[in-house]
Amino acid sequence: MKLSFKHLINATQLTVSHVDRLIEKADKYYEKRNARNCKDLDGHILATLFFEASTRTRFSFESAMYRLGGHVVSLEQGLSSSAKKGESLSDMGRIMSHYADIVVIRHPDSGSVDAFSKYATIPIINAGDGANQHPTQSLVDLYTIYKEKGTLSNLKIGFLGDLKYGRTVRSLVTLLKQYSSTFSFISHESLVISDALRQELQESGSSFVETRDLKGTLPDLDILYVTRVQEERFESKAVYETVKNEYILKREDVHDMPDLTILHPLPKINEIDEAVDFLPQAKYFKQAEYGLYMRMALLNTMLQ
Ligand code: NCD
Repeated sequence: MKLSFKHLINATQLTVSHVDRLIEKADKYYEKRNARNCKDLDGHILATLFFEASTRTRFSFESAMYRLGGHVVSLEQGLSSSAKKGESLSDMGRIMSHYADIVVIRHPDSGSVDAFSKYATIPIINAGDGANQHPTQSLVDLYTIYKEKGTLSNLKIGFLGDLKYGRTVRSLVTLLKQYSSTFSFISHESLVISDALRQELQESGSSFVETRDLKGTLPDLDILYVTRVQEERFESKAVYETVKNEYILKREDVHDMPDLTILHPLPKINEIDEAVDFLPQAKYFKQAEYGLYMRMALLNTMLQ
């Protein structure tokens, strides 16, 4: 399978057919998860460049490359590179094209990964650019929904938490609207979805509501996608402090809803009470596990 793009920067690049084929491949890797002899990317080099904190995204991409038989070169603290000396991202992308076969990059500025890819001759994957996009997390989310619900179509999905700064919400909504999903956006009024996303949903004719009422919305949902309030993107710490504990999902909110699936891209801070982790509805740790297989599928596909 070949994709119709070279770099993966934005979820808008991904079609239903791309998603289907990536899920199929991820599932093949998932089924063979105990094998240790995969050589699908034998001799290939992945470079990971992280200018922002990460656990799951970096480790799952790096582990994916090793599991495919390839190698990894890594920059964990972006500012230990020549970026500190003022090198431009586009120069860095040009140079990295000689040292690796594919790059995964995360950076705090919106549009930064696009700038990095400008002169790159190897595939570049956006692992998060500021509050903008995180397309590979959305692929992981879709793979998890497929595994847990058996379908991606006609689902009722609630998004809870920081809908303003959360890049995973933005990317996932863009993808899910291709599957006739119905959306409920549950947040504090200062953390509602952007005008751009609202317009995108209106133009596509998607059905959605915006509300502050978590308890009243929960019974209608197939999936609740919880997000962390993105402290690092607030202009004022005082404003963050006023909204950070607005929603805390409790066991009693969901324990009698056996068909609800609770997702979270993680890390979670205090928006989900620990007792929820032990309910069968909580699938966020499994979601992080599925991330490995989807990223194996993505690396292999983008290097074909
Ligand atoms: C998310 C991110 O970095 O946007 N984490 C992730 O990649 N799994 C979510 C977050 O940081 O809140």
